[in-house]
Amino acid sequence: MIFLIKILILSIRIFSVDSMDTYESLEANNKINERYASGFLSQYPPEKAFQILDAKCNVCHRRKNKNRIFTKVNMNTWANDIYEQVYVRKRMPKGNKIRLSSLENQELLSWISSIKND
Ligand code: HEC
Repeated sequence: MIFLIKILILSIRIFSVDSMDTYESLEANNKINERYASGFLSQYPPEKAFQILDAKCNVCHRRKNKNRIFTKVNMNTWANDIYEQVYVRKRMPKGNKIRLSSLENQELLSWISSIKND
């Protein structure tokens, strides 16, 4: 997937080189591309899921459960545990202060199901 994104970005760049003549406009174009690419990335379920895990889970785990700090590398291997804790036993996010919005719930679940279907 990351490979595909790189190809996408690269091809956008190649096309833009063709259509631009000055360095300045190329620079401006690169900035626009970056914005597109980051918009595209945040649409991508693992990226969204990581943002949620980082904002709603890591904030606390960093202090209270240091063995389970979610990263983009380890999150897939913990998807089952996350599913169990958040959706089955409903123990996480722990306490009353941190809640998942219904959108976050959907997004986290869609990432989990994308892994389970793999
Ligand atoms: C306010 C603190 C806090 C928040 C927020 C929080 N956790 Fe936890 N979590 C803990 C603590 C403390 C433990 C270890 C003790 C326990 O299991 O209750 C833990 C344990 C876990 C475990 C392992 C449980 C087991 O027994 O295997 C998982 C998985 C987990 N959390 C997932 C999450 C996810 C996913 C979120 C966010 C949606 C989250 N947690 C949010 C404090 C938190």
